[in-house]
Amino acid sequence: MAEIIDLRSDTVTTPTEKMREAMHRAAVGDDVYGEDPTMNRLEALAAEKVGKEAAIFLPSGTMGNQVAVMTHTQRGDEIILDPEAHLYYYEVGALAALSSVQARPAQGLHGKKVNVEAIEAAIRDKNIHFPKTRLICLENTHNRGGGSITPPEEMQKVAELAKRHGLAIHLDGARIFNAAVASGRDAREFTRYADSVMFCLSKGLSAPVGSMLAGNREFIERARKNRKMLGGGMRQAGILAAAGILALEEMIQRLAEDHANARLLAEGLAALPGVEVDLAGVETNIVAMETRRTGITGEEFSRRMAARGVKANASAPYRIRFVTHKDVTRQQIEKALDVIREIVA
Ligand SMILES: Cc1ncc(COP(=O)(O)O)c(C=O)c1O
Repeated sequence: MAEIIDLRSDTVTTPTEKMREAMHRAAVGDDVYGEDPTMNRLEALAAEKVGKEAAIFLPSGTMGNQVAVMTHTQRGDEIILDPEAHLYYYEVGALAALSSVQARPAQGLHGKKVNVEAIEAAIRDKNIHFPKTRLICLENTHNRGGGSITPPEEMQKVAELAKRHGLAIHLDGARIFNAAVASGRDAREFTRYADSVMFCLSKGLSAPVGSMLAGNREFIERARKNRKMLGGGMRQAGILAAAGILALEEMIQRLAEDHANARLLAEGLAALPGVEVDLAGVETNIVAMETRRTGITGEEFSRRMAARGVKANASAPYRIRFVTHKDVTRQQIEKALDVIREIVA
């Protein structure tokens, strides 16, 4: 079979041989009783990596985000988030369906500079007609924002605003280690400005399954109960945790390779006729390519690439999103560029 270069997402990464080995040998117990030693190690390690008191393992980032919202809010509360936030855009309406909260999209919550005034304008005052604003959600790196990083100093401004208004902050840090590695900073410099943080083990970090939600001990205790309510209490989950431990111990620094490959891809694309890439916007492992000037829609472009062995999804009518990761080499990026060159020729 011809080689497939899969740039749809870093979720397609497969576990390393070492992870498979560790999963095979993992000591396990019933995690609902708190008796899985490997899971207990992972949860302690995850909490430490993001500087929080405690952490809990969940089967997916979506469940991590939703359990966080459920734990922060009460029915009828309002939460402020970016209109392109994963929590709002890609989580199947779970905010309404599971937590019965109302989303208040606001601009200015991500990117190199946040817009404190715009965020503040979205906070409700004490009018009897209004819902209670409870939570601000941030996303770093920002998926639909092309993997963009919000610097810690900007997060701090949102945290100060939240504090002034008595609001909590949840950070969707699915790719927080990409943000940390790309900016040469510790993940804790970002996460210290959030009350809770979710991050994924199964994206660039290459574990087969799982995400972590971290926060203070009391919050995580309540999150554990909510996870159980949603059916997310797992039993001998140490099998999965064993891979997660390696993800955190061994796979963070190598994200720099993915970032270098994204840069290579972006520069190659920028040199092609018709397609457009905002080079300054490529900060981590995501590259957004605009196809409008070629007259080829994103869907059609995606089909033409797939026919030549390169997979990437359309993320807007005239946009393709490429995501680099462990299972795509530099050489494959060069091949993908050859394929795209053929299409735009
Ligand atoms: C920013 C962000 N948050 C949350 C998620 C959800 O993760 P999962 O696919 O594990 O549910 C994703 C997945 O792509 C994501 O990009």
